[in-house]
Amino acid sequence: MRLNKYISSCGIAARRKAETLILSGRIKVNGKIVLAPFFEVDAQKDTVTFDDRQLELEERVYFVMNKPAGYVCAVTDKYDPVVLSLIKGYEGKLFPVGRLDRDTEGLLILTNDGSFAFNVLHPSKRIPKEYEALLNIPINARQVENWRKGVDTPDGRFVTPLSLEVMDKEPANRWVRISIVSGHKHEVKLMANGAGFSVEKLIRRKIGKMTLENLSVGEYVSLSFSELYTKIFDGGTV
Ligand code: URA
Repeated sequence: MRLNKYISSCGIAARRKAETLILSGRIKVNGKIVLAPFFEVDAQKDTVTFDDRQLELEERVYFVMNKPAGYVCAVTDKYDPVVLSLIKGYEGKLFPVGRLDRDTEGLLILTNDGSFAFNVLHPSKRIPKEYEALLNIPINARQVENWRKGVDTPDGRFVTPLSLEVMDKEPANRWVRISIVSGHKHEVKLMANGAGFSVEKLIRRKIGKMTLENLSVGEYVSLSFSELYTKIFDGGTV
């Protein structure tokens, strides 16, 4: 493993900051200062220190939650409770992957694995996310058709959903199931606005092929990397 990755995997600094630490001469491998961020470290054999304190690799953890409304997807917040406060008995660092608005419920992944967050779930990877949205007023077939073809959002973009359908759920013709790949903030609400609606309730039901079915609001499960990966790419429920 490269030294910069090793250091970020120990939880003391993100990858960029790890490079700064290396270049400042505060990192030693087997007692010798190493100034090269790409120096190869053998995690089994080598001893890496930061200011002469030995570093240990942090275990990677993955939680999948049914986020309740009222919680903010952040590590800290001045005004509202944060989603991290719902995870009990885990003291290590953790961050939510991708944001759900404070009033949005549903599937949320929390992890300490920055490279998973970036390489697997970054918006550039175009993993579809499926939401159920309660609209302020009923939607008709023509409006569904128009929305499917694409809408102009209030922030000046033309966007099309991956799929859109009216759900068989009360109140009639007000719940839609919408799938998107964009990682834009408030994307579903902005699309709904562009289509002439506002969203009164929003629930994220799917990330890739992983579907929220069993967790009640506020509950979460801990998964291994391969369990999570399999659920997202091959299909599975939580
Ligand atoms: N789109 C939104 O508008 N809000 C969310 O929380 C997620 C997607």
